[in-house]
Amino acid sequence: METAAIILAAGAGTRMKSKKPKVVHEVLGRPLVRWVVEAAKGAGADRVVTVVGHQRDQVIPLVEEDTTVVVQQAQRGTADAVLAAKEALADFEGAVMVLSGDSPLIRPETIAEMAALREEHNAAVIVLTMELENPFGYGRIVRDGAGEVARIVEQKDATPEEAAITECNSGFYCFDARDLFSALEQVDSNNAQGEFYLTDVLAIARAAGRPVLAYKTSESAQCLGVNSRGQLAEATAVMQKRINDAHMAAGVTMWSPETTFIGPEVTIAQDVELLPSVILMGSTSIGEDSVIGPNTRLTDTVVGCGCTVDETVAVEAQIDDGATCGPRAYLRPAAHLCEGAKAGTHVEIKKSTVGKGSKVPHLSYIGDTTIGEGVNIGAGSITCNYDGVNKHATVIEDGAFVGSDTMMVAPVTIGAGALVGAGSTITKDVAPGALALARAKQQQMEGWVAAHPIQKKK
Ligand code: UD1
Ligand code: CA
Repeated sequence: METAAIILAAGAGTRMKSKKPKVVHEVLGRPLVRWVVEAAKGAGADRVVTVVGHQRDQVIPLVEEDTTVVVQQAQRGTADAVLAAKEALADFEGAVMVLSGDSPLIRPETIAEMAALREEHNAAVIVLTMELENPFGYGRIVRDGAGEVARIVEQKDATPEEAAITECNSGFYCFDARDLFSALEQVDSNNAQGEFYLTDVLAIARAAGRPVLAYKTSESAQCLGVNSRGQLAEATAVMQKRINDAHMAAGVTMWSPETTFIGPEVTIAQDVELLPSVILMGSTSIGEDSVIGPNTRLTDTVVGCGCTVDETVAVEAQIDDGATCGPRAYLRPAAHLCEGAKAGTHVEIKKSTVGKGSKVPHLSYIGDTTIGEGVNIGAGSITCNYDGVNKHATVIEDGAFVGSDTMMVAPVTIGAGALVGAGSTITKDVAPGALALARAKQQQMEGWVAAHPIQKKK
């Protein structure tokens, strides 16, 4: 049977106290709504429709590429939100999952299980439920004398007896498309919030004599809805543990999983060691036997095998096999350390290649530069790549030796095997094999100190 998924992401999320819409807030670098889109796709949904509304200009760019976007003009409740997707699914027959865009922890397997159960029982709807010690805020599952699901009552509409129920609505459902859209026509807004509740569809379907089921998960954490910053932190902690456990199971060592934060798309090879306080985000990948951290943040960065990356921040950088980095290095976009190269302490590198085995060990800025193989850059050397208007390139050829505290004013080339004296300001190309010195001559006056006794204050 074909399955469609409708993701509800039109609400404001006032409890977040934010200028951003709720579903744009991120868990481990991925927006809440994207987690749900990925879960729907992972569960095998053939079509995904995202309902947007409040501040939709910020939500649409996140979902327009791989889902059908529909607009709910006014946020009049979850039933009204689902109705906004009706037209987009006009030609659709089959199962419709409705997923809360603010619940990032849902597992694709769970969605798939719900879909299979609904089909097996030909039910109008199956709702995912969970038992919570503190159910406050969630809709409660009201069962009849026979234990069948009768209806769902929202927190604000619940009598004290209903509020004492601990089985809660997760906000995830699988419907038969026909039952869903016909029941939605009958939902009204006679309730404490004056909203059209999707949850009312259960009682309506039951009254029509159609089977209504609940599927209770034993892992209530996957149903956590993010309504506040506290719940955002809770969701982050759960996802962090889930991801870290998977990497450890696959052969990654973590000194302190609690201080290790890894995004969902990061790949890490076997026998990598992560020291405390490491953040790996985006499309970052780490090759075998590399040691990362402590205090390191890598975003969209490719690290090869056997690298040491210590107290480093890197964004869109590439660190090849056996290269070393830090402590306290900053690799900016298009920084590339080739095999066995080194970017040492307090070194910043941007849009530059450091060739095989070349070293920039201390206190340097290298920008818009191509460094060949076997080059040594002395402490405190800087490429002066920016004249205030344009950026210019520096080339340092194989085997060159640049003395400490050298300023290389770009555009400039230092030839293969050349030697630049410490403290030089290089403004002209240096020929291969040449010695270049560009510094003021030292003056020396013999006996000057004795002839000029310093007057000490009394
Ligand atoms: C909802 C359920 C509740 C359940 C809980 C689980 C209803 C009436 N209540 O409550 O039973 O326990 O989720 O997390 O459905 N949205 C829209 N348009 C709207 C209103 C909401 O798109 O007009 C979206 C929101 O962006 C959000 C989702 O629907 O992603 C749920 O809305 P929210 O206001 O968070 O519902 P809850 O009060 O949490
Ligand atoms: Ca919610």
